[in-house]
Amino acid sequence: MPKLSQPVRVLITAGPTREYLDDIRYLSNGSSGRMGYAIAQAALQAGWEVVLVSGPVELSAPPGCEFHQVITTAQMKDACERLFPACQGVIATAAVCDYKPVQRITGKMKKVGGPVSIQMIETDDVLAGLGHMKETRWVMGFALEAQNPRENALQKLRRKNCDWIVLNNPTAIGAEENSVELIESSGQTVGQWSGPKTLIAQQLISWLKGHVES
Ligand code: CTP
Repeated sequence: MPKLSQPVRVLITAGPTREYLDDIRYLSNGSSGRMGYAIAQAALQAGWEVVLVSGPVELSAPPGCEFHQVITTAQMKDACERLFPACQGVIATAAVCDYKPVQRITGKMKKVGGPVSIQMIETDDVLAGLGHMKETRWVMGFALEAQNPRENALQKLRRKNCDWIVLNNPTAIGAEENSVELIESSGQTVGQWSGPKTLIAQQLISWLKGHVES
């Protein structure tokens, strides 16, 4: 009997994360989650198994995916590190909150009648953690760059041990459309797509299918 090949199982991160100052207020960003959810949908349509780890967004998880809701960066990191070993690869589209207050205040921070300073520290890097535990798995990151885009994206690819990085710019945040460049570890651009995020997602998955399916 012919051996049936196993479907690719992919981990996808999406949406923003939040870092709380107190029990009510948080730092975050305007990520809608659209790019990640569109990639999840395109991967399902391609016959892949999808594990979606998402920060808070207003979208519904695509039917058929394994969905994990998270809020903070630490929760996203924990979920991803637990789920990645059972996947063949990861596509990290999440707009992770890079800083968190040194201390989270219990209850509600009171007004003090003047300026306040909040000391912040970097959050953990979810993608870098996955990149360094990848072994035979493949890793695709996203890079949001305002200056020296290609140079910075390539540095990010190397620092986070990615196989590919998808370069886009800050206008992508919260938008319906995007314009992306896919860069491999040699620094070569191997794909370039613009238009609705749903279409870019299909093109990206179709490109990946040609590279990761055995
Ligand atoms: N990323 C992550 N965890 C973080 C920061 C980023 O997993 N704490 C991931 C994003 O999901 C994306 C990639 O790393 O796939 C690059 O994110 P980006 O925001 O472009 O870069 P940063 O690493 O945050 O660096 P900088 O803000 O200095 O450009």
